[in-house]
Amino acid sequence: GDEDDLVIRPPVVTVMGHVDHGKTKLLDALRNANVVDKEAGGITQHIGAYQVHTEVDGNDRRITFIDTPGHEAFTAMRARGSKSSDIAVLVVAADDGVMPQTVEALNHARAADVPIVVAVNKIDKPDADPTKVRGQLTEYGLVPEEYGGDSMFVDVSAKSELNLDKLLEAIVLTADASLDLRANPTQDAQGLVVEAHLDKGRGPVATVLVQRGTLRVGDSIVAGPAHGRVRAMIDENGDPIEEADPSRPAMVLGLSAVPGAGQNFIVVEDDRMARQIAEKREARERAANQARRRV
Ligand code: GTP
Ligand code: NA
Ligand code: MG
Repeated sequence: GDEDDLVIRPPVVTVMGHVDHGKTKLLDALRNANVVDKEAGGITQHIGAYQVHTEVDGNDRRITFIDTPGHEAFTAMRARGSKSSDIAVLVVAADDGVMPQTVEALNHARAADVPIVVAVNKIDKPDADPTKVRGQLTEYGLVPEEYGGDSMFVDVSAKSELNLDKLLEAIVLTADASLDLRANPTQDAQGLVVEAHLDKGRGPVATVLVQRGTLRVGDSIVAGPAHGRVRAMIDENGDPIEEADPSRPAMVLGLSAVPGAGQNFIVVEDDRMARQIAEKREARERAANQARRRV
């Protein structure tokens, strides 16, 4: 039956915080990558999704991370990011302290009703003051466990790779303590488009997050107004994968168009049905746009 098919899926963790407080650098350190140095102007401009492994109590545990931009212009992306996640990691630079988008991110996480883990970053810096950060966030009602509250704070340095294991452990503990992360990997996949763009060589490329079921190469999907058969899937390291189970992010090739970030995707029976559903959605969007223009 359905209950028997449920397995524990990895938590989906959105990393949020003020611009340049070290969200991307932290994710780079957690997965031994280097995205930060390739970003134009050092500013994250779209959402990235990655999965990392960690060991807690001798068990291999996976965590899915969604990186969000901290620049004030990207409020909608932060709102979307927090809605699709189980946990928020709030990154606060220990030298800068709480800043406007720190507070904004905190409010998004609260609106989405997800538990928050605080990563107090850049503690390698001589002017780092992690105690001050704790005091500031306490004023916003985010009280560290060591002060009698219920939020885990972990002092880290993405640059010096300090306490990264402690941060992962705090995330796993928070997930185990407060979340029901069961999902059914046997059903047809559905999930969210995290980011999508048009690639010169490969055509429309969508990073999707599988929320239920398992997505496979060859599946017919509808993603927003786009449709197609999954021609290939690529993981966060650029390696081809045949399938993606619940909470796994994957880059999907083979769509007819570029779907919008935040739109849903579903697997359907065949190409014909995918095209029909996509066309209906497109017609509906067109009608809605026309109605809006008339107002
Ligand atoms: P946006 O995505 O644009 O909001 O920025 P971000 O929060 O992802 O910050 P990013 O990872 O781009 O880091 C900003 C700058 O801080 C870079 O120059 C990083 O090298 C630096 N940085 C990040 N973490 C640390 C740290 O732990 N210590 C020190 N000293 N520098 C860090
Ligand atoms: Na940055
Ligand atoms: Mg970034």
